[in-house]
Amino acid sequence: MSRVGPLIRYLPWAVTLPLAALGYVVSPWISLLALILFGLGVQDLLQTQQAVRRNYPLTGRLRYALESIRPEIRQYFIESDDDKLPFSRHQRAMVYARSKEQNDKRGFGTIKDYYQQDAQWLAHSMHPVQTDTKNLRVWVGGPDCKQPYSMSVFNISAMSFGSLSANAIQALNKGAAKGAFAHDTGEGSMSKYHRQHGGDLVWQIASGYFGCRTADGRFDPERFEEQARDPQVKLIEIKISQGAKPGHGGMLPAAKVSAEIAQARGVPMGADCISPASHSAFTTPIELMAFIAQLRALSKGKPIGLKMCIGQVREWFAVVKAMLETKTTPDFIVIDGAEGGTGAAPIEFADHMGMPMRDGLRLVHNTLVGAGLRAQIRLGASGKDPFSL
Ligand SMILES: Cc1cc2nc3c(=O)[nH]c(=O)nc-3n(C[C@H](O)[C@H](O)[C@H](O)COP(=O)(O)O)c2cc1C
Repeated sequence: MSRVGPLIRYLPWAVTLPLAALGYVVSPWISLLALILFGLGVQDLLQTQQAVRRNYPLTGRLRYALESIRPEIRQYFIESDDDKLPFSRHQRAMVYARSKEQNDKRGFGTIKDYYQQDAQWLAHSMHPVQTDTKNLRVWVGGPDCKQPYSMSVFNISAMSFGSLSANAIQALNKGAAKGAFAHDTGEGSMSKYHRQHGGDLVWQIASGYFGCRTADGRFDPERFEEQARDPQVKLIEIKISQGAKPGHGGMLPAAKVSAEIAQARGVPMGADCISPASHSAFTTPIELMAFIAQLRALSKGKPIGLKMCIGQVREWFAVVKAMLETKTTPDFIVIDGAEGGTGAAPIEFADHMGMPMRDGLRLVHNTLVGAGLRAQIRLGASGKDPFSL
């Protein structure tokens, strides 16, 4: 029995041979099918890459077949309507219905359990006011800004040309133009695809200074001035860190650096396109304020902001101290959550680094209020917070 047991795993494969012989009596097609299965089993036995297939010829394939449809099985049969991350089935259904102008109302009240742990709710007022939903905009621009911008409260987060295709960039920018909101270029700078539909742009500048760099990858003020003058550029954002990979920087492999990407970024083709982990234009908070002042002057007073995920809290406090000391402030700060998305990031960084959006936003808001700076700095937030809808 001890010898027979392990051999049973070969049985489904072994029966294909007699089946090929006997099946011929019924139909040659059965024989052919059995022979194909036999061949597949031989292939499983000879290959050395997958232990399951080698140990269980033919039946081992079922494991890989089932694994390949695991996401669909979960989504269609197992996932509950309220399971999140990033959006639940209910939330998606509501967005689909609204985009098609179908009925998005529900009778008989909620089906959520309001008494479960972590249930969330909003406190209403006895005197609700009607919001002008056609005009959900705020002015961005502190005391030193010469070209303040009336910004929609919903905008498109930074996603570079390179991590997104030309078609995706065009679609996002067309959407921005139609919906009168702003489209953040991401650190890959501006390409011709950002300009075809004329949607408002937030030009992001990260540690690689793409679109405004010298040949050795440092900040180039002249190139910056040229690009920043473009009327389509409404705001300029210095990326300090990104929630999905704070402190990591990034790399677009040489194989992905097409001629168009190389042109937009101002980098050579055939070489990996590197974003270093930190900036070379400044190293201290005081120097960061000087850089903000420099960009403001070069852009003729356009709003200059920061994008960051909070890490070491004392470093953020040092930035606020530098604002008070230099009397230079950014016009806006976007707080990105550790839960935020990315084109690519090491899993260790995505899963373990940085402060989540809600905690970061609360910290930054409270510090700025305490420092008396909140009124002149607009705050934005990004991060796929599963409770945000
Ligand atoms: C494909 C992709 C590319 C991204 N590229 C950038 C980038 O170039 N610069 C940046 O600051 N953030 C980048 N991000 C992060 C987003 O801007 C944003 O911080 C994150 O997705 C969370 O925000 P959300 O809730 O708006 O998605 C990227 C995200 C994705 C999914």
